[in-house]
Amino acid sequence: MGFEELVDTWDGEEVVIHRDPPTSSWMFVGVHSTVTGPAMGGTRLKSYPSPADALDDVLRLSDAMTWKQAAADLPFGGGKAVIAVPDVPARESAERRPLLLRYAELVESLHGTYVTAADMNTGEADMDVVGERTSHVLGRSEANGGSGDPGADTARGVFHGIEATVRHVFGTDDLAARSVLVQGLGSVGSRLVEHLRDAGATVSVADLDGARAGAVAEEMGATVVAPGDVIGTVCDVFAPCATGKVLTEATIRHLRCRIVAGAANNQLGAAEDGERLREAGILFAPDFVINAGGVIHLAGYETLGWDESTMTKRLEAIGDTLLEIYEAADGEGISTAAAADRMARGRVAAARGG
Ligand code: NAI
Repeated sequence: MGFEELVDTWDGEEVVIHRDPPTSSWMFVGVHSTVTGPAMGGTRLKSYPSPADALDDVLRLSDAMTWKQAAADLPFGGGKAVIAVPDVPARESAERRPLLLRYAELVESLHGTYVTAADMNTGEADMDVVGERTSHVLGRSEANGGSGDPGADTARGVFHGIEATVRHVFGTDDLAARSVLVQGLGSVGSRLVEHLRDAGATVSVADLDGARAGAVAEEMGATVVAPGDVIGTVCDVFAPCATGKVLTEATIRHLRCRIVAGAANNQLGAAEDGERLREAGILFAPDFVINAGGVIHLAGYETLGWDESTMTKRLEAIGDTLLEIYEAADGEGISTAAAADRMARGRVAAARGG
């Protein structure tokens, strides 16, 4: 699809397109919705086959952010940005900083309609640079007035989501009797493993980086599963914490778990996969609900003035929201993905006054 068709079939508010001649990059900011507040979402730094692929990504991702913010009941709308580079510049490369400063000027030119944060290939140090040219940025280092990497709170939220989901399926949230497979041991997955271990669960882990998987397994007393064997591995809970689109027509029929509950964004390959999971008897914790700990951390600490105890309550509340969604899905005979979607859309419609 070309630019025109992509934008024409998208229901967001505005998309900003900026060409960066010095690096032959494209910058896209997708402001999907400001109905519940300024559009907030991370900046993805990535190389794409074409600018249209990058635009497609930003439109899809910004849409998902609207529902994530609404499900978490935060005073933000949904947005996302992509810096589509020919090659991702290394952290210490000479071109990275000026590129980020030019990007920050673009964010500043939107006067707060869009508030940025870190995402794939960007982190706290990059947000510090962005913060030199705009105040509309979350997730800077604590030394620079931010609240740092939200990964630990994303992991806490996912852990509470797993507890609630286990309670719904097995009647108790005691994880000592449960096996959990964590796919992806990055910022979120490695911390999730720690929470699971502390709760007494039997944990297995997988990562494309075999050395990393081995090290985490040894430290946490977990078992390593080869990345290619994840889908068919028998477990109570499968926690995708690596990449999106892991749940597809091809993979769902091979899943040997009762629950899918993990941090990865956009886990469903297609909308119908939510229903496929229901038919397979697998309870799916909708990703944009269970992984909202990151935006809750950023909004709570940096704009809402929360203390740690409020943060803890709001992260625990992810479990309560999931239970509400499961009850609605059971009651209406629909998938949990459809129930979550309905809840989030209902909140945005209510805020719009319609
Ligand atoms: P990360 O980049 O720190 O870690 C990802 C890990 O997954 C890496 O260790 C990588 O080697 C591994 N991996 C990649 N593909 C894999 C595969 N096919 N099989 C096994 N391992 C694989 O990412 P992070 O921050 O931990 O995020 C994980 C997921 O959660 C991503 O989908 C992200 O979009 C999502 N997420 C993260 C949030 C955060 O606060 N960091 C917030 C909300 C969602």
